[in-house]
Amino acid sequence: MKRLPIGILGSGKGSNCRAILECIRSGGLDAEASVVISDVLEAPILDIAREFSVPNAYLPPGQFRTRLEPQAEEELVKMLREAGVHLVVLAGFMRVLHAPILRAFPQRIINIHPSLLPKFPGLEAWKQALAVGETVTGCTVHYLDEKVDHGQIIAQREVAVLPDDTPESLHARIQIAERELYPAAIAEFCGKYAGSNPSL
Ligand code: GRF
Repeated sequence: MKRLPIGILGSGKGSNCRAILECIRSGGLDAEASVVISDVLEAPILDIAREFSVPNAYLPPGQFRTRLEPQAEEELVKMLREAGVHLVVLAGFMRVLHAPILRAFPQRIINIHPSLLPKFPGLEAWKQALAVGETVTGCTVHYLDEKVDHGQIIAQREVAVLPDDTPESLHARIQIAERELYPAAIAEFCGKYAGSNPSL
């Protein structure tokens, strides 16, 4: 069986990364985590990679706050290519990616967002859902494009908003849903990859 080589990018605690690596370890996902890369030196996601013996690296992001310096983005493409990555999986990567990487991995970069897109793009989407009194929110796996939290939707999972929800309780339930949805969405790519032409 041809295993899908994935590269995981994250800036924070890495709960989605852990769920994906656990799913691979338990045989639920025919993927191989080729590399985990973070723009934050002390990010727990890098500790998780080490715990699972996955090659990992810190990518110095440069001087900007919300995106990578162009040179850093080129370096990221190089690292992913050298690791043989086919699918780039964003798991809490807090910088907006641009043309160099989008061109290098067309329709092969996916992200997970804590709302039912196109509703509530941007930061703290669960707070946005609570603020307008939604009764249902959820999470979305989507392809990355030039706009933030915008590309073609791959899969969604609904999460009910309960009358006594706080931002924390709602966010926690959305994250539980994310940890199921993301591996399931990646599994679809594994199926296509296993049946694909070796040149792809
Ligand atoms: C997730 O909630 C995801 O929706 C958002 O960033 C968060 C990352 O969490 N894009 P973690 O680092 O996977 O725990």
